[in-house]
Amino acid sequence: MSYAAGFKSLKREATVGALPVEGAMPQWLSGTLIRNGPAQFEVGTDTYNHWFDGLAMLHAFQVADGEVSYRNRFLESRSRSEALEHGQISRAEFATDPCRSIFRRVMSIFRPRLTDNACINIAKLAGDWVAMTETPLPVAFDPETLETVGVTEFADDLDVQTMTAHPHIHPDTGQMTTYGASFGRSCRYHVCAIDPGSRRRDVRARLPVDRPSYMHSFGLTERYAILSEWPLRVNPLDMLLEGKPFIENYEWSAQEPTRFRVARLSDGEEVTQVEAPPAFAFHHVNAFEQGDAIVCDIVTYNDASTIDELYLERLRSDEPTPAVGTLHRYRLPLGGSTSLVKPEPLSETQLELPRVHDQRIEGRPYRFVYGVGARKAGNFTDQLVKINVESGASKTWREEGTYPGEPVFVPSPTGGAEDSGCILSVVLDPKQDRSFLLVLDAETFSEQARAPVPHAIPFGFHGQFLGN
Ligand code: CO
Repeated sequence: MSYAAGFKSLKREATVGALPVEGAMPQWLSGTLIRNGPAQFEVGTDTYNHWFDGLAMLHAFQVADGEVSYRNRFLESRSRSEALEHGQISRAEFATDPCRSIFRRVMSIFRPRLTDNACINIAKLAGDWVAMTETPLPVAFDPETLETVGVTEFADDLDVQTMTAHPHIHPDTGQMTTYGASFGRSCRYHVCAIDPGSRRRDVRARLPVDRPSYMHSFGLTERYAILSEWPLRVNPLDMLLEGKPFIENYEWSAQEPTRFRVARLSDGEEVTQVEAPPAFAFHHVNAFEQGDAIVCDIVTYNDASTIDELYLERLRSDEPTPAVGTLHRYRLPLGGSTSLVKPEPLSETQLELPRVHDQRIEGRPYRFVYGVGARKAGNFTDQLVKINVESGASKTWREEGTYPGEPVFVPSPTGGAEDSGCILSVVLDPKQDRSFLLVLDAETFSEQARAPVPHAIPFGFHGQFLGN
């Protein structure tokens, strides 16, 4: 049994009043962990191609007084309802394009039917919890029942075709900052701020670009947004004419540098562009200002082949799959230096799905990052790691034959040290054909409790803890 079990569809929706708990849940832990991820990889005789394509399912673990309840529900997106109605995949996803006829393809150029299969992350937007993918179609849901409410319409006329599933939420004000891209005769990145309770995306910076880069996330400090243009770029005409799935229009060029573009939020001015060696990343970890520079920590790869490693056929093949990268620190001078910036590795311990104490250190100096890791290259993600970015030292948690998902940090209500709190992770146990919620002491990284659910949960991406 291997991690391939995490890419099997889960069709069953369940509500369990009380999960069995082994160990002792922290008495102070009170709230709901909601996780998002794909759970259905086939419709009729069609199959999605990539891990990022499957139909979204939400999972909620409600914790109070040492007890845990669980429920899971599909996100009732238009993509899903159309697919179920017609018995075939309906809308184009990250690496799947169902456009079957030239006519439909031409029509879709003029009236793009972007997917609302929001299987990547969740966030609070305009007072609602929404599920998100990389299109500007967030889908609101009820965090208690997981019932789908519907696509949140923005109250502005910003015309973007992509929007990151990794917005930043200001720890004090709750303001969301996000970025999207518009494709056309001229292409632009748009950095926008959305006030809590508002559905208006206020554009803070507009950056022109000839060939947009695929950027899954971006960096944000108190005063600056940092877009990291990896040399995985698309000619926008290809996107319209080539007829390939979204991501397959992007081309990797090892000859081109990575280009960091830094925009000042107060006036939208692009204050500097900084070049670095070619690399690829999904996840910015954190960024902060330090003297005349911006420090930007990112989980990077040598190239974009990691995207190819995550096609379902490969993930299900039992072949070794590397799924973790290296934590690198880029120091971007604000003074307009044109020399190449060399990234500095922060630890030998590799990771992915990085999380920090985002309520305290988002955009500020910090010490700890948590993530999934791999004991051996190719093991997919068979451990959890905690890295001290100052010393490079790390702690790990692992249990033979199990595969943990993204570790979400929940701070202790009494505050204290940056790592005072617990870590929540949903772990797949293929031998038992089920998953369990794992609770670790964030400081010592030792297990406090676990609560098994009655089925195996396919590997998801991101989730958030909603405190009571
Ligand atoms: Co992500």
